Amino acid sequence: MANSDILKICYLLGSLSFIVGLKMLSRPDSAKRGNLFAALGMTVSIAGTILFHENVNHATGEVSRIGNLLFIFGAIAIGTLTGYLSAMRVKMTAMPQMVSLFNGMGGACAALISLVEMNTHHPQEFGLRLIIFLGLMIGTVSFAGSMIAFGKLEEKIKDYGSKVQQVINNLLVFAILGLIIYISQGDSTTDSLIWVVFGASAVYGILFVMPIGGADMPVVISLLNSFTGIAAALGGFMYDNQVMLTGGILVGSAGTILTILMCKAMNRSLWNVVSGAFSASGGSGKSTEGLSISEINVTDAAILCAYSQRVTIVPGYGLAVAQAQHTCHEFEKVLESKGVEVTYAVHPVAGRMPGHMNVLLAEADVPYPKLKEMDEVNPHLPNTDVVIVIGANDVVNPAAETDPGSPIYGMPIIKANTAKNVIVMKRSMGKGYAGIENELFYDKKTRMLFGDAKASLEKLIAELKSV
Ligand code: TAP
Repeated sequence: MANSDILKICYLLGSLSFIVGLKMLSRPDSAKRGNLFAALGMTVSIAGTILFHENVNHATGEVSRIGNLLFIFGAIAIGTLTGYLSAMRVKMTAMPQMVSLFNGMGGACAALISLVEMNTHHPQEFGLRLIIFLGLMIGTVSFAGSMIAFGKLEEKIKDYGSKVQQVINNLLVFAILGLIIYISQGDSTTDSLIWVVFGASAVYGILFVMPIGGADMPVVISLLNSFTGIAAALGGFMYDNQVMLTGGILVGSAGTILTILMCKAMNRSLWNVVSGAFSASGGSGKSTEGLSISEINVTDAAILCAYSQRVTIVPGYGLAVAQAQHTCHEFEKVLESKGVEVTYAVHPVAGRMPGHMNVLLAEADVPYPKLKEMDEVNPHLPNTDVVIVIGANDVVNPAAETDPGSPIYGMPIIKANTAKNVIVMKRSMGKGYAGIENELFYDKKTRMLFGDAKASLEKLIAELKSV
C-alpha cells in the first residue's frame, strides 16, 4: 500500500475518533473515555503525518519525507510534558483559566501557520491568500482574546468598556477585513502587510474581550473556542489536510452551538454580550443597606432537613472551591436514608465553565437522573421544603428578575426564593462572579449557614446521623 493511502487511513481513523469522542463527551459517564479516544485519534493522525507524509516536487517528480525530526519530536516532548504537568497540577477551580490558556495556544498555532506559510511560500492565488489571512486574523483574535479572558478569570484584569470603544471595535474589524481582501488580491509586494493584519487582529482581540464581564464570560469563552476551531479548519483547507479540517470544523461548530446555548442560558443575544452592553454601563445592583440576615446553626439546619419531605440542593462555584462534591453526595445519601427526597438543581452557568457542576457531581458519583435542569426544577420549588444553596450566588439572585439596573438582569435563575425555606451555605457575605449583592440572603425565608462548604456539610452529616 502506498504511503499516501496509509496516511489517508490514519486521517480517516483520526476524524472518526474525533466524532465518536465528541459524542461520548455529551454524557458525564462516558466523557473521560471520549476524551481519551479522541486523543488517541489525534496521536494516530500526528504519527501518520510524521511517518507517511510525502512532499512531491512536481517539477522534478522527486519525493521527500518530513525532515527536522529532532525538532519535531523535541517540540512534541516539551508540549506533552508542559500539558501533562499543568493538567495534573491545576486545581479544579482554575480549570476555566487553563482552558482559556490552551485555547489561546490553539489560536496562536493557527496564526503562526499563516505567518510561516506566507513568508516561506508567498502564494499568489487569491483563494489561498484569503484563507491564510483569515486564519491569521481569527487565530490572533482568539489568542489575544483568550489571554485577556485568562486574566479576567484570574481576576487580574478588570472590565473596561465604553460606547466609543464599541465604535472603534466595529471600525477595526471592518478595516482588518478590508485590508485582507485587498492584500489577498495582490502579489508578493503586499506580503509585508501581513504584519499589519497580525498587529491589528491582536489589538482587536484585546479590545473585543475587555468590556465583556459581569456574568457574561461563559459566552465569550465558548465563542473564542469556536474561533480557534475555525482558524484550525482554515489551516486544514490551506494544507488540504482532512483531519485538520474535520477537527477544526468540529471544534468550531461545537463552540458555536455552545455559544448559542450559553446565550440562551443567560437570556442574552450574542450582540448584547459582545457589545459589553451590561458591564460597560450596568450598575452594581440594588443596595442592601438596612436589610438584615438570619443565621442558622448546624443542629437546627440538620433538624429542618431531616423533617422535610423534599430537599433541593443548588450547587455553585463555592462547592467546587471547597471540593465538597463527595461530602455533598454523602449528605444527600444520609438525607435519603431518612426518607427525604433529594434532587439537585443545576444552573447552566453555575461554576466557572460549561457543565462545571455536572462534571463535579459526576466525579462524586451522584446519579445523573438526580441532576435537574433549571426549567424542570423551578415549577416544583414552591412545593419544596428546603432549598440548600451550596456555594452558589449569582445563579439564585432574584435581581436577575427584579432589578433592570443589575448586570445580570434577564438571566434566568433557579428560583430558590420561591421555596418554603432556604439555607445558604457560604463562608461570608462575599459576592459572586458578577460582583453584586444578593437579596435572597436577606429574604425572610432564608437562613445563612456560614463556613466552608465542605466543613459545614461534614458537620451537618454528623448532626443528621444523630437526629
Ligand atoms: P458565584 O456567583 O460566583 O458565587 C460563588 C459563591 O461561592 C461566592 O459568593 C462565595 O461566597 C462562595 N464560596 C466560595 N468559596 C466557598 C467555599 N469554600 N465554601 C462555601 N462557599 C464558598 O457562583 P455561581 O452561583 O455558581 O455563579 C457562577 C457565576 O460565574 C455566574 O455569574 C456565571 O455567569 C459566572 N461564570 C460562569 C462560567 C461558566 S461557563 N459556568 C464562566 C465564567 C463565569 P463567600 O466568599 O462568601 O464564601
